[in-house]
Amino acid sequence: MQRLTLTPLQPFGALASGIDLSQPLDAASVRAIEDAMDEHAVLVWRGQPLTQDQQIAFARALGPLDMGLRKLRSGPHRFDYAELADISNVKADGEVADRSHAKIVGNVANQLWHSDSSFQHPRAKYSMLSAVVLPSFGGETEFADLRMAYDALPDWRKRQIEHLKAVHYALHSRFMLGDTDYTDEQKKTIPPAVWPLVQVDPRTGRKILFVGVHACEIEGMTLAEGRMLIMDLLEHATQREFVYRHHWQVGDLVMWDNTATVHRGRYYDFGERRELRRATTEEVAA
Ligand code: OGA
Ligand code: MN
Repeated sequence: MQRLTLTPLQPFGALASGIDLSQPLDAASVRAIEDAMDEHAVLVWRGQPLTQDQQIAFARALGPLDMGLRKLRSGPHRFDYAELADISNVKADGEVADRSHAKIVGNVANQLWHSDSSFQHPRAKYSMLSAVVLPSFGGETEFADLRMAYDALPDWRKRQIEHLKAVHYALHSRFMLGDTDYTDEQKKTIPPAVWPLVQVDPRTGRKILFVGVHACEIEGMTLAEGRMLIMDLLEHATQREFVYRHHWQVGDLVMWDNTATVHRGRYYDFGERRELRRATTEEVAA
């Protein structure tokens, strides 16, 4: 019988141990992990390198798998599963991509505060990111707690946004970065998703300020006012007091709840190899 041990991180998240993620999870372990995610929203497992098979099996135990942006491009990839996201600056042939390669834009886009796949229905629930090769400097990942962010809003703001809904679009962040070379068909492949700015977690009852870089307008507001509101809310949500910064070690598995957090990668030299691998589950309606 394995037993989950948790050590809280600051200002949120927890270091998790006691369950071998490379082995099939029993129902009690699944429940323990879900309960821990409800409370901490980010779990850091050290020294748990997973093969692709193990990572997929672990993710499947927690929900149906999400494909995210990989729906758009079906080009060659390095993995045995289309469901694994290649969070790296490495091309399909295994070489580090040069800076003009399309893959690098994806790396830059990951450095904007976002919730994975918030641009689709269903959105992503858990992301599970495994560190394989790390650069000598930088490349940390930061997480902001959207529950703490909601709780800290002034009352006038809570009232203002109570019934507002944001439109999230898959290519908005790409367009911001000048990555506009998509066919009309690609632009329509993932239609925008609409999410209330204020969400109530069906499992914990906690309120969540659901913003991120994929949000591009607020229903019923002008583009300008809506975007300003989104930027203000995201700035509020990502104050340092709500942010856990993860310094990676090879073999780390970090999982986060995309419905309760936003995250971003930090600067590293794209000339240096950085390889992480992500499996993601879809949110299942409560
Ligand atoms: C991701 C992501 C950031 C990073 O895997 O979803 O945004 O630091 N990663 O690589
Ligand atoms: Mn991400």
